[in-house]
Amino acid sequence: MAKKAPPTGSAPARTDSGPADPAHETFEHTAGLKKSQLQQLAAARRHNELKAGEHGFDNGLQTAPGAHVEAASGLAAASTVSELNGTDKSGSAAVEGINAAIESLDRVRADATGRPLTTNLGVLIADNQNSLKFGTRGPALLEDFVLREKITHFDHERIPERIVHARGSGAHGYFECTAPLTRFTRAAPFQQAGKVTPVFVRFSTVAGERGSKDTARDVRGFAVKFYTDQGNWDLVGNNMPVFFIQDAMKFPDLVHAVKPEPHHAMPQAASAHDTFWDFVSLMPESTHMLMWVMSDRAIPRSFRTMQGFGVHTFRLVNDAGDSVFCKFHWQPAAGTHSLVWDEAVKISGADPDFHRRDLWEAIEAGAYPQWELQVQIFTEEEADRFSFDILDATKIVPEELVPLQTVGRLVLNRNPDNFFAETEQVAFCTANVIPGIDFSNDPLLAGRIHSYHDTQLSRLGGPNFHEIPINAPIAQVHNNQRDGIHRQAIHRGAVAYEPNSLAGGCPFQAGAAHGFMTVPARLRARDEHAKVRAKPELFADHYTQARLFYESQSQPEQAHIAAAFAFELSKVTVPAVRERMVASLRNASDALARAVADKLGIAQLPAPMQRAMEQPRKPEVTRSSALSLMHRPGDGSIAARKVALFVAPQVAWNRGGSSLRERLVTQGAVVRCVASKIGPVRLADGETLDADATFANEPGFLFDALVLPDGCDSAADDARALESVRDIYRHCKPIYAFGSGVELLARAGIPADATDAGLIVAKGTQASSQIDRFIEALGRPRDFSRETDPPRV
Ligand code: HEM
Repeated sequence: MAKKAPPTGSAPARTDSGPADPAHETFEHTAGLKKSQLQQLAAARRHNELKAGEHGFDNGLQTAPGAHVEAASGLAAASTVSELNGTDKSGSAAVEGINAAIESLDRVRADATGRPLTTNLGVLIADNQNSLKFGTRGPALLEDFVLREKITHFDHERIPERIVHARGSGAHGYFECTAPLTRFTRAAPFQQAGKVTPVFVRFSTVAGERGSKDTARDVRGFAVKFYTDQGNWDLVGNNMPVFFIQDAMKFPDLVHAVKPEPHHAMPQAASAHDTFWDFVSLMPESTHMLMWVMSDRAIPRSFRTMQGFGVHTFRLVNDAGDSVFCKFHWQPAAGTHSLVWDEAVKISGADPDFHRRDLWEAIEAGAYPQWELQVQIFTEEEADRFSFDILDATKIVPEELVPLQTVGRLVLNRNPDNFFAETEQVAFCTANVIPGIDFSNDPLLAGRIHSYHDTQLSRLGGPNFHEIPINAPIAQVHNNQRDGIHRQAIHRGAVAYEPNSLAGGCPFQAGAAHGFMTVPARLRARDEHAKVRAKPELFADHYTQARLFYESQSQPEQAHIAAAFAFELSKVTVPAVRERMVASLRNASDALARAVADKLGIAQLPAPMQRAMEQPRKPEVTRSSALSLMHRPGDGSIAARKVALFVAPQVAWNRGGSSLRERLVTQGAVVRCVASKIGPVRLADGETLDADATFANEPGFLFDALVLPDGCDSAADDARALESVRDIYRHCKPIYAFGSGVELLARAGIPADATDAGLIVAKGTQASSQIDRFIEALGRPRDFSRETDPPRV
């Protein structure tokens, strides 16, 4: 029900001039009262109190809050005296100081249960099957607004895809602070232990188009939007801590080089082609990132098993305005796990949505993905002593140099209701920071601060995309920005400028104590002298950290890196480009360059590429175990791991299969009974089991492990079963075989190897004897000891 409006009186309200002395205006009607209160409000500001403080460097560091005056009543600044004449649509007056557009997403959720179909304007649709025609066989009529509305809307359903990171998947959740960081920052999420901040996270690949495969070799985006009570903060990171380039000027070149080649639009979602390797082999600063991208990091097992990094150096700023440098790291509770290349290639055919499905299913199953947020904090003085430049996005700060400290955890516990409305329309931007977080002078970051908002203006169709529900903050939003396409907020009052007296000075600037303040970054003297297009000297060290990464990998990881370089370069059609890349790799690791050259049939190693810096500074750290995927095995849990259990009519379910499945499921694993066809299988002991997957619709490479129970050897008649066994073996995943299930291993050509910790063979027909070993193997990283190149199986 609308509020009762006060009488407006009979005298017509003037809109273009007022009385000389409003004190003599009659207050019998509301318009007069409004005028009088507005006059009082305006008169309370004799001058602009802030003006003097706008000048001088010191004042710039102490910005004062804006002057504002309390009005006699809300009427003074109202748009109209008729605002209380409400209807069910118009509602009544705005609640003072409230922007109702920022309420939780419940305000826009829509559910049609029990409702009939309507047009977009709420008109009930009588017939949704037929267009309007002149007679049943006659022509369709232009008058049919129901058809035209439906088709027109459909015609415009697509929006441009992201220029990069087009393929992504998102989820809601929360960030919980576990160790306050108040000493270093006044940023809202870090103020008290236990403080919870809502988040939306989007994971993505970079190069592929929106419908491309999930398991491409690529960097993964790891973008987190924190809806803090000080506004939205976006930590728009990747699953690798460095980047290809050092300056935003090169970003369009990089992306043009890696995207499908423009003449024939191939290859999709792949860096294995001429233009990418031509570009990066001429950009030696990309060598460190190439090591990461050629490592198994670029083919993660799941979004849940990736680290995340803010990449750039940021600043934390405390209440006193003091600042320190900071690097952000996300550490997955499930540990870091990846696929192997052969597996990634096969998955991309059988399930291009592999990562999207995994994230969705894990959340639906209650196995909520979790990460710890860790920070590395260091001062400007410490940074000055490092052997590398902390403004260089191709460098990490080794953990051995600056330790990680845990400040909170991220939990993803809610899938979106609607992919388009949430995951597609979400707009991340590195410029979205809050008081307590600030930028460093990283020149790559500077370009990003511009780029995201700019691209979103066209992707999301205009300047008001911050009002799209998934992008709106939960903090109040009040400013004098107005209009533009699809404006949602209905702003009350006549004032859209500052300073003002007619709205009592509101909204007013918050001042240094509460508002966002930029750190007056100290610049070293030589940087201050002039405008220049050049890089700092230490940016020229292109190989020291590439070597650090490679040297810090385990032997199988090094082998995978060499194989990946060789695979990618083998797809390059210009031999000179291949050789140039090998020449560059020689500066990072001769052993790696030799291994790659050998696989490429390059008999004579090219001379090492000429370096931009012949004598780099001595690095503080030459080996860091933390850079290996093996360093973070996870908590050993098997939650959300997928296990294939082969079933066939000869399986005696009660001799172990059933109890094994129960043990696995109780611990959160996903067990699928796989057979030649789906549906009921009558088993040897009279039980009937439903096969829920087939060797064709869920081939072995989609699983994390395999169980071959007694009696399943008859599945060998289906060659696809043997392919599944071979793939699971080749990809170094645990296999548990007992009873006659062991024979399936032999049929698949798998060597019996008692030293293979992932190949668990129980002698008898009972599953129970080795269950614990199997569960333990399933919870740890893969054991690559059975791997050979080329594969024997
Ligand atoms: C100068 C360098 C860069 C530029 C100009 C740039 C530009 C862009 C653009 C235009 C988008 C699409 C945004 C949208 O349409 O909503 C994007 C997405 C993204 N970028 Fe960058 N980028 C740069 C470097 C980086 C780096 C170094 C990282 C990692 C630290 C990164 C991480 C991401 C992520 C995660 C997304 C996807 C955001 C989402 O999920 O919507 N970018 N970038």
